[in-house]
Amino acid sequence: MDALIIEGGRRLSGHIAIEGAKNSALPACVAALLTDEPILLRRVPQLRDVSTILYTLGALGKRVVRNETSVVISGDGPLSGEANPYSVRKMRASFLVLGPLVARLGRARVPLPGGCAIGARPVDLHLKGLEALGARIEEHDGVVDVVADRLRGARIELAFPSVGATEHLAMTATLAEGVTEIVNAAIEPEVLDLVDLLRRMGAEIDVEGRTLRVAASRLGAAEHTLIPDRMEAGTMLLAAAISRGEATADDVVPEDLRPLSDALRRVGVDVCEDGRSVTVSARGTLRGAAVETAPHPGFPTDLHPPMAALLTLAAGTSRITETVFESRFTYVDPLRTMGAQISVDGRAAAISGVERLQARMVEAPDIRAGAALVLAALAADGATTLRGLEHIDRGYERLTEKLQLLGAHIERQNA
Ligand code: UD1
Repeated sequence: MDALIIEGGRRLSGHIAIEGAKNSALPACVAALLTDEPILLRRVPQLRDVSTILYTLGALGKRVVRNETSVVISGDGPLSGEANPYSVRKMRASFLVLGPLVARLGRARVPLPGGCAIGARPVDLHLKGLEALGARIEEHDGVVDVVADRLRGARIELAFPSVGATEHLAMTATLAEGVTEIVNAAIEPEVLDLVDLLRRMGAEIDVEGRTLRVAASRLGAAEHTLIPDRMEAGTMLLAAAISRGEATADDVVPEDLRPLSDALRRVGVDVCEDGRSVTVSARGTLRGAAVETAPHPGFPTDLHPPMAALLTLAAGTSRITETVFESRFTYVDPLRTMGAQISVDGRAAAISGVERLQARMVEAPDIRAGAALVLAALAADGATTLRGLEHIDRGYERLTEKLQLLGAHIERQNA
């Protein structure tokens, strides 16, 4: 099993190349199910999750041609209505194939999803939305069986602005009769990127505040370049900050990173936005701050664990309140073994800043907690051994090389 060996204490500096967003790539690939014509996606990150979704689409009958950072998904042969249980259980985003398959075939069977072990992550909002569009849903032994002779537009009010449910229902609604209104929709940049792709495919979609209006459309071929990955950019900027260095994330959308930039400034990190780049510099004293995650434009839950890593070294007390995923706190125990002082009470973590962290042998429990451990290791005294890289590989392309380019002492070993 591979492990990262990270020797802490090097100040990072330099420029960071940012890949296309994983969370845009996954629904964008699924959108190809809505048409027989080819969809060309550019700036597609080379990540395990992307391979999983492409494998799922291939098994459903699509033709997938992957070429470095671009992917063409096409194929006018018959589609299967049964998703591969292995890939859906492996990754929650595969569940998004359900609605598009029902819209195309009138029937689909998809297992209940897996993915990161964070929170309960039910799919009730997805299923209620599909029901509102006229689908009949049954569940047996962890597999959902959905039938719909025809789908009709409806008003769907989401109890929570779920990213996945918004994407799932927006895609399905493009092939339902009439107009669908999704109220209290998620408006994360990745959701709006999907809307952009669907429009290029011919969909008529209005976005007004948190309401999406989707009209029935005939969808066809499109080309689309994915937005930059704000979670990768945010994690790398936090890595520079925790190392007390200075680094620039290139070719990003600074506005999409603003919730992080604002939080970093409160902690005492200088942040400079320049057109399509964001630079952080963390030479001064870091001070504790209060951070609360929330649906966009709030502070992103995916950056909660790496932000927490930074706050373990900020003077005074910090508080991170989690309002999106109740069990985001998987980073707490391993960070404590490295010397961090963190206590969790319900949905909030209280962090008392310490002077130093110590290298230990730790294991990544999921993608973003894994990122938090990499960051802590970059600042810790000694050499940390980090296992559980299969989680980190789901979300970060060439992480080791990128950190090495910034001057980190990090190596991947087959241990
Ligand atoms: C997406 C992102 C993930 C990010 C999350 C929140 C992808 C592939 N993943 O996940 O990285 O952390 O958005 O920004 O884009 N919920 C329900 N019922 C549902 C659906 C969701 O209760 O039917 C709850 C979840 O349990 C969770 C919250 O809503 O507590 C947010 O989930 P959601 O926004 O759907 O996240 P994902 O789309 O799974």
